[in-house]
Amino acid sequence: MPGIVIVGVQWGDEGKGKATDLLGDRTDWVVKFNGGNNAGHTVVIGDEKYALHLLPSGILSPGVTPVIGNGVVIDPEVLFAELDALSARGVDVSKLRVSANAHLITHYHRTLDKVTERFLGKKQIGTTGRGIGPAYADKISRVGIRVQDLFDESILRQKVEGALDQKNHLLVKVFNRRAIAVEEIVDELLSYAERLRPMVADTGYLLDEALQRGEVVVFEGGQATMLDVDHGTYPYVTSSSATAGGAATGSGVGPNRLDRIVGIVKAYTTRVGAGPFPTELFDEQGDWLRAKGFEFGTTTGRARRVGWYDAPITRYATRINGITDLVLTKLDVLTGLEQIPVCVAYDVEGRRFDEVPVNQTDFHHARPILEHFPGWSEDISGCRTFEDLPQTAQDYVLALERMSGTRISVIGVGPSRDQVIVRHGLVD
Ligand code: IMP
Repeated sequence: MPGIVIVGVQWGDEGKGKATDLLGDRTDWVVKFNGGNNAGHTVVIGDEKYALHLLPSGILSPGVTPVIGNGVVIDPEVLFAELDALSARGVDVSKLRVSANAHLITHYHRTLDKVTERFLGKKQIGTTGRGIGPAYADKISRVGIRVQDLFDESILRQKVEGALDQKNHLLVKVFNRRAIAVEEIVDELLSYAERLRPMVADTGYLLDEALQRGEVVVFEGGQATMLDVDHGTYPYVTSSSATAGGAATGSGVGPNRLDRIVGIVKAYTTRVGAGPFPTELFDEQGDWLRAKGFEFGTTTGRARRVGWYDAPITRYATRINGITDLVLTKLDVLTGLEQIPVCVAYDVEGRRFDEVPVNQTDFHHARPILEHFPGWSEDISGCRTFEDLPQTAQDYVLALERMSGTRISVIGVGPSRDQVIVRHGLVD
């Protein structure tokens, strides 16, 4: 079973880094296939806490070859800063391989991200402001700059000219900003070339070879199902394919190579940025959940919106991704609640929806139909088998499993690497 995909089920920040890390010893390759430095994994190893934005979390496991696939957008300055920070802490980063076809985020993408958001006013998406959307827009519009362009100065200059031609009109005439000089961008990009060169490879080829040798390749999705550009709560989404299908297109391996699809789901729900969120809490229970789960963004530091577990969303994600295993994270955060509400369906102005409504207006107006499950007060952070959990916690997990349409294979009971209950291994 060599090809394992990890995707977020909800709106991100489910704790995917932990799952990749859990697979660490069995993993030979970890591939980031979508997104850029809008992501934020926090991985805790021993007493050390690592916050990664662009690099795949597998970079922390010795023996693993980390790969940045063609589906990623790379801000080279951020890439080098993350590599330097890890090197300074003694992490070996020399194995990193970067796809020659990945697109680059430049100064004008970051600028456009910020001014576009400002322009949208009340309708803004609440992006991370890292230039992700504009870089993907350029890719689809065929005016993007790819990693391989850094190694051919005349092509690079032509492409930057082509991209800035339209953008400078937009920046000056619509957004009232200064024009950006071609040379400024070309010089900046060329300054990255030599350091990047040894990392650049035909990563699709390398991964195919590895899979043929029977090595374990983990495809690590950034963001999550409900933020996917096709299947999420459009337009309140990110600009890439964050679902399992994106693992194939974003890394250059065939879909039949993806053997296991692991969905990461939090025992409650969070969201950063704008957009619909049926189970959102606005009261002190929400404040309690946010504080207890420490729900503040790794990338932006923003307080996350919080709410109860939404079963139709997990069912939807199971279907869209073909999830074979769920990893339920942060179960320990719910300790101390007398009753745990779970959204089992939606009410949309008197109509009941058992599944996520396809119509965006319905989803915007969806109110959760809640079922309440008995809570527990015992500390569960030391539990290492399912039977160690209090009966009510076991019942809560089994109820979620019944509603989600697939098995819950791993349960997270604390932030550290070893604070997990493994019911079914993710590799065998
Ligand atoms: P962008 O990806 O910066 O364009 O932002 C688009 C939307 O996706 C915003 O609502 C962001 O808050 C959200 N988003 C992007 N990356 C993440 C993530 O890693 N976790 C949670 N939300 C994210």
